Amino acid sequence: MKLNIALLAGDGIGPEVIDQAVKVSNAVAKKFNHEISWTAALTGAAAIDAVGEPYPDSTHEICMAADAVLFGAIGHPRFDNDPTAKVRPEQGLLKMRKALGLYANVRPTFTFPSLIDNSPLKRERIEGTDLIILRELTGGIYFGERGRSEDGNTAFDTCTYTKDEVVRLAKLGFEMAMTRSKKLCCVDKANVLETSRLWRQTVQAMEKDYPEVTVSYEFVDAVAMRLVQWPASYDVLITENLFGDILTDEASVISGSMGLMPSSSIGVHTSLFEPIHGSYPQAAGKDIANPLATVLSAAMMFEDAFGLKEEAELIREVVNKSLAEGIVTEDLAGKNKAYKTSEVGDWLAKNI
Ligand code: IPM
Ligand code: MN
Repeated sequence: MKLNIALLAGDGIGPEVIDQAVKVSNAVAKKFNHEISWTAALTGAAAIDAVGEPYPDSTHEICMAADAVLFGAIGHPRFDNDPTAKVRPEQGLLKMRKALGLYANVRPTFTFPSLIDNSPLKRERIEGTDLIILRELTGGIYFGERGRSEDGNTAFDTCTYTKDEVVRLAKLGFEMAMTRSKKLCCVDKANVLETSRLWRQTVQAMEKDYPEVTVSYEFVDAVAMRLVQWPASYDVLITENLFGDILTDEASVISGSMGLMPSSSIGVHTSLFEPIHGSYPQAAGKDIANPLATVLSAAMMFEDAFGLKEEAELIREVVNKSLAEGIVTEDLAGKNKAYKTSEVGDWLAKNI
């Protein structure tokens, strides 16, 4: 099979972790007789430096022409402490999500048997956790109207959702739940927010089409608590953009390192695969970042974008083997030897 993949390495540790995912993907392609054509494109602060904007048209064209996009990370600290900066790397990410129609962000959280004691949460709480947070990604407060009063002392951001946006996301949630343990949790703040009441009403109306799925409706504050108390009780959770942003960072703690969790964003035009961690600028260029979240994102890409399940499974197996054998970066090494980012990538590619 011929796989056309756009490669957006981005900023910080992005290029280093992307390199490892490319090595592993190429090894898989070789083994299964696929031909991957990678097309690199600029994004984030790297694109601002090169062409003055974080998601240039040339990058968009490359993404639109590709079968899938593999993405590293974007963000640079020089923008974080400058609230007046007119162009920010994150704008590129949001523009890309909107332009590619990436409306559903799939963020799984699971535990690795060999790492269970790495989690700050007790083993008995997290054992058996295997959940997916399905985050709406192109609506809500991220894309609502925002502004400042003339004197600059009042600011507003608005959250808007349409029924169609909720239906499209919830449909994926129901379908995903059908292939798993048939439990769906709709996370909202319907005791306060009108958009949440629309979400709840819309999902309730869809229940009749999926009689086998048990749906629960929970407030986001309560879910934030239960996620660290009883994460194994959840299966598929659906939620709006900002709640999903916050809950997925929280959920990543369960697995023991933010460097482990992959994600995919399902889109109207193409789909995108990326680690859930950020650009980790303190580690950039040091060859110390954990590449596994990106490698596992490549596994999701093989399976979800190309239907290549066996290839994806092989990547996951080799990742599990590396963890079990302690071929890990410093975030997971504890008192044992820490391997470099590139060494972990080489080891994985060799073991494919
Ligand atoms: C994420 C990130 C982004 C978001 C930022 C970088 C804009 O935190 O992908 O979760 O808030 O969506
Ligand atoms: Mn986030």
